[in-house]
Amino acid sequence: MDLKRAVAKEAAKLIKDGSVVGLGSGSTAALFIEELAKRMENEDIAIFGVPTSYEAKLLASHYGIPIVSIEDYDVDIAVDGADEVRKKDLALIKGGGGCHTWEKIVDYNAKEFVVIVDESKVKDSLSFPVPVEVIPHSYRVVMKRLKELGGESVIRLGERKRGPVITDNGNFILDVNIKVENAEELEEKINNIPGVVENGIFSRVDKVLVGTKKGVKALKK
Ligand code: A5P
Repeated sequence: MDLKRAVAKEAAKLIKDGSVVGLGSGSTAALFIEELAKRMENEDIAIFGVPTSYEAKLLASHYGIPIVSIEDYDVDIAVDGADEVRKKDLALIKGGGGCHTWEKIVDYNAKEFVVIVDESKVKDSLSFPVPVEVIPHSYRVVMKRLKELGGESVIRLGERKRGPVITDNGNFILDVNIKVENAEELEEKINNIPGVVENGIFSRVDKVLVGTKKGVKALKK
């Protein structure tokens, strides 16, 4: 079985009847949403989804998963993908799909936050450019401040849409080449820059499930 599918299926088994589940974004999380929908149908269990993006929301609706809002409900467990996972401390980079702001709101406020990746994402050090969502008006000054922190930024441009990618919140994304050593510290420093909405360093995760050729393995801090 495809490694992403295998890890998504394993994560779907963690979900208990009646749970409020944070539904992650990206291709791996999409498989999780699909596997969750299968469980709901086959086992007749009730699940309520809190989406981390419009992508997740549309998919959940497609599969008939009832959606509730984080404005009204606490999340029992959030399951989400990642672009990179650092082996030694499970620091993550997320936001390759531009959804890291909603993702962090849902994932960090869940009682349990589980990440699902295939083994190609697990690295000794982080090198994926850090996505930083910014208020459009602030992009130039934020880029200057990121440079002071040692980061070179580019504005993320659309593939079919011309010009900057616009997030689900109506903002721009900067992709920042920056060395991540102390993940928690850098996550805070970037978020302290005026104009920054949220960055894609995730220093807090409870568990990472990794799809490997030898089966699904759990990494914990
Ligand atoms: C979305 O913005 C991201 O944080 C995704 O979780 C991340 O890009 C992983 O996506 P894939 O599972 O498609 O690699």
